[in-house]
Parts: sequence; C-alpha cells; structure tokens
Amino acid sequence: MNKERKILELKEKQELAKMGGGQKQIDKQHQKGKLTARERISLLLDENSFEELDMFRVSNNEANSAETAHMYGDGIVTGYGTIHGRLVFVYSFDFTVFGGSLSQVVAEKVVKIQQMAAKVGAPIVGINDSGGARIQEGVDSLAGYTSIFLNNVLYSGVIPQISAVVGPAAGGAVYSPALTDFIFMVRSTSFMFLTGPKIVKAVNHEDVTADELGGADVHASRSGITHFTYDDEQTLFAGIRTLMKYLPQNNTEEPPVIPNDDPVDRIEPDLNYIVPDNANKPYDMKEVILKVLDNGEFVEVQEAFAPNVVIGFGELNGRVVGVVANQPKHLAGVLDCNASSKAARFIRTCDCFNIPLITFEDVPGFMPGTVQEFNGIIKHGAKMLYAYAEATVPKITVITRKAYGGAFCVMNSKHLRGDISYAWPSAEIAVMGPEGASQIIYAKEVQDAENPEEKLQEKIQEYRDKFANPYVAAGKGIIDEVIEPKVTRYKLIKALEMLQNKRDTNPPKKHGNIPL
Ligand code: HXC
Repeated sequence: MNKERKILELKEKQELAKMGGGQKQIDKQHQKGKLTARERISLLLDENSFEELDMFRVSNNEANSAETAHMYGDGIVTGYGTIHGRLVFVYSFDFTVFGGSLSQVVAEKVVKIQQMAAKVGAPIVGINDSGGARIQEGVDSLAGYTSIFLNNVLYSGVIPQISAVVGPAAGGAVYSPALTDFIFMVRSTSFMFLTGPKIVKAVNHEDVTADELGGADVHASRSGITHFTYDDEQTLFAGIRTLMKYLPQNNTEEPPVIPNDDPVDRIEPDLNYIVPDNANKPYDMKEVILKVLDNGEFVEVQEAFAPNVVIGFGELNGRVVGVVANQPKHLAGVLDCNASSKAARFIRTCDCFNIPLITFEDVPGFMPGTVQEFNGIIKHGAKMLYAYAEATVPKITVITRKAYGGAFCVMNSKHLRGDISYAWPSAEIAVMGPEGASQIIYAKEVQDAENPEEKLQEKIQEYRDKFANPYVAAGKGIIDEVIEPKVTRYKLIKALEMLQNKRDTNPPKKHGNIPL
C-alpha cells in the first residue's frame, strides 16, 4: 500500500470512529432530544481544542467483538482539550454504542484519562449517558467500574472532578458521578437511580416514573445529589465552562485571578438599611451577596436544596471566593440537617482547592424537634463544625444579624480559626435569642410581677439592650471590628489581601474522621 493509500485508510477509519454506533443510532439519540458524545465535547471545550486518545480501541470481549468490530472507540470518547485556554481532560459516553454501557475497554479508557489528568494536575470532566454495566461482559464490566471509582477517590481533593449526567445513569453508573466534586443534570433526559422504576415496583410495590425517581429536579431539590440543573444540554455545558473559572487546576494551585474594573471601594448605601428593625422580619441575604461581590456575579451551587443556607462562588477584586450564607428568607435561616451537610461539603470543596471562604451569618440556631433529632442533626451539625475547623484557607465572617448559641460557634467563629470576624451594628451575638433567654433567666421576676406579660416584654428589651448587640463580643475580641454595612465589600477585599499569604496547617494524621 502506498503512503497516500495508507493516509486515506487512516482518514476512513477516523470517519468511521466518529460515527460511533452508526447514523441510525445517532438519529435515535437526536430524536430523544440528546446530543452525541462528540457534540457534547465540542460544546464543553474551546473550539478545535479537542485531542482524542484511544480512538481505535475496540471491544475485546469475545461475546460481542463481531458486532463491535466496526465500532471504534467502544462506547466512549476520551481525550483532552482546553476550557478558557486551560487544560482539561474529558470522557464522554457514547450512547450509540450499546447504550453507552461500560465494557472493560470503556473502563480502561476512562482509567487512562483519569491517571493522566492526575499526573499532569488538570481537571477532568465526565459526560455520562450510559445503560450501566455492559451486560454481555459480566464481571469484567464490574471490575472496570470499580477501577474508575478507585481513581475518583484517590484523586478526590487533588484535581477537580466534574460530572455531567445527560442521559441515564443507572446502577453502578451513579457512583462515579457521586464521588466527584460537582454533578450537572439536565431536565427530562437525565436520570440517576440505583434501581430503576421496574425494580422499585417489584420490590416496593411503588409506582414511580423515572423522572419522579431520579430526574434532575428530584436530585436538585430533594436528595441534593446534583449541584446544577438545566433545561437543555447547551446551557448545561455553558454552565460547566462557567464553573471552571472558579476552580484551580489542582490542589497545589490557586484559582485564576481575573482582573475586572469593579472598584475595590465601591460603597453600597442600601446595605445600611437592608436588615429590618424587627428582628423577626426576613430579608434576602442574596441581595447582600450580590452587592458585595465583583459586578454582582454569583454562581450559586445547589440552589434548590436546603435554601436556608446559600452557597456558591464569586470574586472579590478578581480573586475567587466561596460564599456560605444563612438565608433569613427561608426558615429564618435556621440550620437543619440538609443545610448543615450542604454547607459542610461546600466548605471542604473550597478548602481542598484553596478557595477562601466568606461567611455571611444571620442564624437563629439549629432547628429543634423530633424530625431533626431523629434525622441526626447532631451529626450533620457536627459536619459543619468539622469542616470549618479543619479548613486552612482564609476564612472571613460577616455577622449581619443573629448569631445565637451553637450556631454562632459553628458559623466560622474565631475559635474555629476564623481569621477575621466583622459584625454589622445590627448584629445580635448571644447565647440565645432575647425571648428565650428572658423566659429562663427572669422567670421568677416575671412570675411575681403584677403584670407578667408586661414584665416579660420589659425584660426582653433589657436583655436585647444589654446582650443582643455586637459590642459585648467586640469588647472581648471575639469580633474584630464592627463595620458600617455599606463598606462591607471594601473591608472584605482588604482582609483577603491581608490573608493572601496565610499559612495554616493541621496536625499530621492519616486522615480525620469527619462524622458521616
Ligand atoms: C448492553 C445495553 C445496555 C447494557 C442498553 N443497551 N443498556 N447493552 N448493556 N447495560 C443497549 C440496548 O440493548 C440497545 O441496543 C441500546 O443500548 C439502546 O438502549 P435502549 O433500551 O433502546 O434505550 P432507551 O430506551 O433510551 O433506554 C435506556 C436504558 C435501558 C434506560 C438505559 O437501555 C436500560 O434499562 N438498560 C439497562 C440498564 C441496566 O439495568 N444496566 C445494568 C445496571 S447494573 P440496540 O441494539 O437495541 O439499539 C450495573 C451494575 C454495576 O450497572 C455495579 C457497579 C458497582
């Protein structure tokens, strides 16, 4: 064969590989409202940046090699490219080949990419659309899954790992995404469940659709499994690209600094009036966040899950920060099981990727009651304590209003190695709220009074004046400074600059034992 013929042969093979399971399967995929593995990669990566590896791998399983001999790539497309000019590795399940099911070869391709990503210290994005273990390959497929899980765990906290679930993820296919840092799902075409509706019906006698069991909205609002939800794949991949701006390449680097022209000393007069005079009235903490961050840009994570705590990314003077904030608009910003574990996980994500934490605090305490206690609020609250305590990134708190009791301790207090604690003049920092405290410490006085209700109100006011303010804590150095709300942005940027070279460590150990 002459050289031209050989090159032609290569090109033919490349074209064949790009067709995956063939035009009929590609059409089917489109009819379902889904994109192909390669279309997805081109939406994710910078234009023409994709470099494919293992394009010609074929299934080596005797049971199906005849069928798959022409299917180069065997159910997955893998390689690397760039997002915003920065290196990223990618694997994208090809549903047109055996429903994107995981064969031994598919697993080997994923493992190779995972190892390369870890070796060169670059993020990895997995695009999942798969019928699970390739049934024809039996135990080889299970072994393959397990090798992928192992790498997910070994590289957790080393390189950012991101999962897009853009089709089914059933059985074992759920656990690789579950072990990664962020999960993205798309409404109506992506599903995640361990056992599908048919098995649920057989075992539990429950009638449930795939969407009700494991659709994007269910995982966004009820289980908290997914971090971002979109209406279509185009916006989903744009969402991943946006998130990547906030992440470093690996745990030894800092996130990129992207200069912008939002003035460091921008004053926000409205913040002086945002906290209502009535301590029981809500306000929207997201307004505070948006006014403080650069250009009012905030990428909220897990927006629909436990909205009583708000988490997400933004920038201050071009530097990436992770925001954790109580939300008085939902359940008065109380900490319950879901809010605590949501915040704890995010704090650890930020800490492992060198992202400073900014905490906005207005929290009446932990949610009381049997539902919370039976669900382990002690354990979930402890997760948050643990996460804040072990975090060594710069940690700054702004107390806008309530900081009561255990919730005060948990929300990045100075004694958990919080670096700087600011309080607004509206802050109320005490062991408990004035109403509860007065009923306990003035019980006898109130009971003996001619008009007990009047006396109680008098005592509540007395307590409020005496303790429910920031000055007792500031007098003890537990608060570093009481600041005018309108200058919060400037104060945070200055504190972040001061903390830029912060070095803090934890005692040497194999690993801690976070309450799970
Ligand atoms: C081999 C598979 C397959 C699989 C689908 N296909 N899943 N081939 N192994 N696991 C094939 C189908 O036979 C079909 O081939 C093509 O892929 C497309 O599938 P359809 O069923 O036509 O697509 P759709 O209607 O969209 O349904 C998708 C699906 C369904 C919901 C994923 O295919 C399905 O339920 N598949 C099985 C899911 C499952 O039980 N997986 C094993 C889980 S156990 P043709 O040639 O007809 O086009 C597991 C254990 C791992 O994963 C544990 C590790 C810890």
